[in-house]
Amino acid sequence: MKVAIIGTGYVGLTTGVVLGFLGHEVTCLDVDQSKIDLLNGGKSPIYEPHLDELMAIARSKLTFTVDTEKALAQAEVIFIAVGTPSLPDGNPNLTYLSSAAQAIGAHIQAPHVVIVNKSTVPIGSGNWVESLVRDSYRAENKTQTSQFMVASNPEFLREGSALSDMLYADRVVVGADEPKAVQVLRQLYLPLIEQSFKEPSFIPRPSGFKSVHFLSSDLQSAELIKYAANAFLALKVSFINEIAELAEKVGADAHAVAYGIGLDSRIGSRFLQAGIGWGGSCFGKDTAALISTGQEYGLSMPITQAARAVNSRQRARMIEILMHELKILKGRKIGLLGLAFKPFTDDLRDAPALDIAQRLIDRGAKVVGYDPIAMDRAKLEWKNTDIQYAPDALSVFDEADAVLLVTEWPEFKTLSLEACAEKMKNRLVVDGRGIYDQNKMTAAGIQLITFGKSS
Ligand code: UDX
Ligand code: UDX
Repeated sequence: MKVAIIGTGYVGLTTGVVLGFLGHEVTCLDVDQSKIDLLNGGKSPIYEPHLDELMAIARSKLTFTVDTEKALAQAEVIFIAVGTPSLPDGNPNLTYLSSAAQAIGAHIQAPHVVIVNKSTVPIGSGNWVESLVRDSYRAENKTQTSQFMVASNPEFLREGSALSDMLYADRVVVGADEPKAVQVLRQLYLPLIEQSFKEPSFIPRPSGFKSVHFLSSDLQSAELIKYAANAFLALKVSFINEIAELAEKVGADAHAVAYGIGLDSRIGSRFLQAGIGWGGSCFGKDTAALISTGQEYGLSMPITQAARAVNSRQRARMIEILMHELKILKGRKIGLLGLAFKPFTDDLRDAPALDIAQRLIDRGAKVVGYDPIAMDRAKLEWKNTDIQYAPDALSVFDEADAVLLVTEWPEFKTLSLEACAEKMKNRLVVDGRGIYDQNKMTAAGIQLITFGKSS
């Protein structure tokens, strides 16, 4: 099929590359010329494991352009994957979505076009996009030869494992009021649903993985599935963080508790890792949007609100722990291991590291950070925050009064603790992701504080 994707961010680019890999003719469109130039040179503008390699395999099926008309004219399926960042009131900013819808209305020419919302949009946006496309189609489309339908196809990709999450998805959700739109998208995803593609050697198919569940629903339900899924995951993490704090007080071990409850298949073992909590582009934004939609209908959503409150408390706890241990933060040197909101990504959106660094700097501490992948981006995006950057992980420990593990990159786990200890002024490590072993730290003479374990 001929596919166009508007927006080559984390979601749009992953979707485009995978659909090209599955054999479709894909045109990826972006307003940012520098991103398109990079992509035409075979390089991804974002860090996502194996994306460059898969892009190289699908190269003959992929076109990257800033030319809206060229990208949209022949497309039979058009994905909207522009960003929807939060506004100060918690509602998402829909300016980019609306300009994408207008461009679609103006330029489509294929006889039947399915327009797919891939961005996370407030419930009801499908209908809104349809009306925007229709208005612009009537006012600006010169050919007027197309029939179009709108569908919602939310993504469930985790950054850092986005390709594997898409190729071997738990489910594909398509919401549309027109059965024809569902049929077209089922056809588009058929190689994925039936797992008939040859697995790329670098993203192997999980053993026994045979097919992907395809689920169709009405538009509104598909839109709500996305928000409800993210809110549920966010509250699962906040729940274990609440239990973890109690575990510290009563002398229990939150990791053992998580393991114990996770074995109950009704609960499940994933997303029960206690620590400094969630960040990233989705959980914060989507829980805020869900609450704000509830408000529009006069409905309070106390569970989702509590998940957010616990999450912001986790970040504050890092500072409380340091104040308890060091008493004075002014003039202290604090090291940060990791800056990205999680490992295997360079994404810094809503990263706990920035929040923690800012709170420390506000209290007069000097903050030195290191991240194997996200550091260059941090130097640009966080230029207004007075963080200093270390050339490597070990240098973070130089003369440090404390080091905070913020992102669980594998290389932080294999550091020589003796070498770290030698460099520190005060031997204190606060492990915000639960990766360090208490006995090894003690043997190296370092005091370790872990979330969820009483010290
Ligand atoms: C996605 C989804 O769209 C968002 O709704 C979801 O909740 C999180 O993930 P993401 O792909 O991470 O967003 O966004 P981003 O990396 O900001 O990419 C958006 C891209 O769209 C950018 O490359 C931007 O240049 C491009 N864009 C934006 C357009 O091409 N046209 C526009 O009008 C606006
Ligand atoms: C999330 C959803 O998982 C994905 O389905 C959705 O489409 C987009 O949002 P992402 O934000 O990329 O994906 O990352 P995810 O792996 O979900 O992690 C989110 C945050 O939760 C990270 O900061 C991570 O460190 C934190 N987390 C996750 C925990 O603190 N504990 C856990 O047990 C799991």
